[in-house]
Parts: sequence; C-alpha cells; structure tokens
Amino acid sequence: MDDRRITIPDLLSKKVSGRKITMLTAYDYPLASLIAEAGVDLLLVGDSLGNVALGYDSTVSVTMEEMLHHSRAVRRAAPQALIVADMPFLSYQISGEQSIANAGRLIQTGGADAVKVEGGNRRIAGITAAIIACGIPVMGHVGLTPQSAVMLGGYKVQGKDSENARRIVEEALALEQAGCFSVVLECLPAALAEFISRRLKVPTIGIGSGSGCDGQVLVTHDLLGLTARGVPRFVKQYADLRRTAAAALREFLADVEERRFPAKEQAAAIDPAIIRGLADVFKETS
Ligand code: KIV
Repeated sequence: MDDRRITIPDLLSKKVSGRKITMLTAYDYPLASLIAEAGVDLLLVGDSLGNVALGYDSTVSVTMEEMLHHSRAVRRAAPQALIVADMPFLSYQISGEQSIANAGRLIQTGGADAVKVEGGNRRIAGITAAIIACGIPVMGHVGLTPQSAVMLGGYKVQGKDSENARRIVEEALALEQAGCFSVVLECLPAALAEFISRRLKVPTIGIGSGSGCDGQVLVTHDLLGLTARGVPRFVKQYADLRRTAAAALREFLADVEERRFPAKEQAAAIDPAIIRGLADVFKETS
C-alpha cells in the first residue's frame, strides 16, 4: 500500500482546485525530518546543496555522487515524502542515454521519486522526454537556471524584455509538452510567471517570481536564517537560527571554561567504594 502523504496526481488536483503547493530544499537528515514533519508537499534535494551546504561558489561543482549521498540521507529522514532530486550540471546535457542512466541512479539508489532538470531549449526538452519515456517523473526549471547563471548574466531577474519573455514561455510550454509534471519558475517578473502559470496545465512552482505561481519553493537555510551569505531580496526570513546557534555555542564555551558544564545531572554516578578500591591499586604518581 502506498501511504505517501502526497502524490504527483495530487499536485495537479491542487492546481485545479486552486490550493497552493509548497516545496522546500533539504540536504541532510535533521532538516529533512523537520521539514517533512511540518507537512510540506515536496522536498527538493536541490543542487543549491553546493553553495548552501558544501561551500562551493556555484552549483556547477556539484557531482552525481554528492547528489546521491544527500538524496539518500533525505530519503532516510522522510520515508513517506515526495522527493525531487536535482540532476547536477553535465549529468543530463551530454546525451539522452547518459541522462536516463543518471536519472535512474537518483531514483534507484538515491531514493528520489522524481528528478529536476534546468532549461527548456529543444535539446533539454528532448532529453527530458526521453527520461520521462523511461518512467521517471521530471520537474522542469526555467527562468534563472543557476547552472547557466554565467551565460544569463548572473543571478538576476530573467525575461524582462519581450524576446526573452517569449523564449521563457516557449521553454515552459516545451517542458510541459515533454511530459514534465511541474515546472519551477525562478526569478521571473511576477506578471510573466502568472502568465505562464495560467497557460500551463501542470503546476508551476515559483521562487522569486511573485504570488501568481501554483506553488512556492525556498531554500530552507535562507528562510530559517541559517546561512552566512546574504539572502536574495525575494526571500522572507522566518527565523534567525544562525544567531540563536551562535549564542548557544558561545554559552557552551563559557560553561566549560567556567566549569558550569557538565553539571552533576549530566554525569553518571558510581559507588565511591569502587573509586577507593582503585586508589589502593593505582597509586598517585606525583
Ligand atoms: O537547487 C535548488 O535549490 C533549486 C531551487 C532554488 C528551485 O533549484
């Protein structure tokens, strides 16, 4: 019996009935279990893993092995969740066969339910269709696609002129045509994202693209205030866990140095007679 909290058809029903979809990034066991317990619809093992959790400069350094390692941890933490894993840079751009094999690894050994690819040009749409034809669900991603941020002129809003706006609409439609079950719209003007969301039958999930999308995704570390780097303007920070954690760490140091930790209640007791017996056997040397 499948007792998953939410399935891919449920996402479509949510769109049809106007209920918003939620997705959050997860890379490790502790945060993935928290996120799953909060009741999010989808967990995304994003390749933002590279910048957020591994200290890389960009997502292009993230490897298949790293995605598999983190995807498995997320699956162990959230056995019932609908998990999407990002296909890392050059794991799907080279050939259809290699893409299918890599997508298959993320599902078979990484524990993901679906994969996400970036871009929607003819080549990527064709590769996406080939992955889907093998029975692997694919989420698309258009607009600001971080794996090609250098070519897009950096991390900035996309589709502001009519030529690029039209190209992005065409890419989103091509991904839907290829069989994607959902498409992420990253850093688009709100009206463009809303336009695409109305044209697509499958749900759109926005990040930095306004409120007209069918769902929203954020990088969990950004919304929890866990990241040392600055957060993009579109992020709403719901907590300042980095500050809370820093205070807790300083308190630990002070407690150890001032001998307040460990206290009696954090230590195990033993019959004093045993220690006296040991003292008879092991004499103090100095
Ligand atoms: O890698 C990631 O976290 C993503 C989201 C920002 C959509 O692709």
